[in-house]
Amino acid sequence: MTDHADETSETGGQGVPAGEPLVVETDDDRRRVERDRGQLAPAVCFGASILAALGLAVVYAEGGQNQAEGVLLAIALGGIGIGLVLWAQRFMPEGPDSEPRGRIGSTREDQEAFVADFATGSRTFGRRHLLTKMLFGAVAALGVAALFPIRSLGPRPGRGLKSTPYADGVRLVTEDGEPVRPDDPGVGGVITAFPEGHVGDETAQTLLIRLQPGELEPEPGREDWTVNNVVAYSKVCTHAGCPVGLFEAQRGELLCPCHQSTFDVLHGATPVFGPATRPLPQLPLGTDDDGNLIATGDFSGPVGPGFWDINT
Ligand code: FES
Repeated sequence: MTDHADETSETGGQGVPAGEPLVVETDDDRRRVERDRGQLAPAVCFGASILAALGLAVVYAEGGQNQAEGVLLAIALGGIGIGLVLWAQRFMPEGPDSEPRGRIGSTREDQEAFVADFATGSRTFGRRHLLTKMLFGAVAALGVAALFPIRSLGPRPGRGLKSTPYADGVRLVTEDGEPVRPDDPGVGGVITAFPEGHVGDETAQTLLIRLQPGELEPEPGREDWTVNNVVAYSKVCTHAGCPVGLFEAQRGELLCPCHQSTFDVLHGATPVFGPATRPLPQLPLGTDDDGNLIATGDFSGPVGPGFWDINT
């Protein structure tokens, strides 16, 4: 405590001019001044972290700038880290960095020393109100800044992962938009087709493969899904989404060039080699009044790689 003497020195023998208040600096005063000085550096670090986190949120909200966001994030995280280190260095009780392994149980002195250290640490932590508030402020500001990137996740996929533009009566067309007739693929040949009006739709790209008569062994319930021995499968690999484009007519297999998954075209495009575990979904085919190929429904299952709630 600082004692402000009400009375003035009258003797002049203490070195205090007559008429000036007598100020006595106690040990508590000195400790408090040292403590306040010690708080400054960690508080500055936490403050810098708060400003950087708020700046990060503003930069992101204004459209984002990768370099600036990286620098601000580094300052926000680094400020908290450096502030904590400085805080610990200046205020936490020092303990031994290593100690020889002794007997398993602690001595009474050890236990008392631990309790004393713990109590000192708790008091120190509790007394650092400013630093505690600054630390929580820095963490909270960083949390707020971290909320903004959630916006980057984009819209919910909805049914997009589980359905394609195909439906009963939708015509199949080539990449040029021309309708496909059942005899367009030669025997052993392959054509890439799309639903009419959706040429280029990656999820709906379809392989039309014309097999030899009697080659196909249709899956149960799919006996009428082919026309003129033309069978249709999704072109999107069920492993990681590459286009499956290599058809080996002699073996009746489709090969994905990315990781060599191989699908048995004659048996529902089930995978027979490689990392893919799901068959390529099959598209049911029919013809319209003009003799063009049409879909009679959507694919037999979700196209492309599996995801969290896939159930086929
Ligand atoms: S994407 Fe086809 S095997 Fe990996």
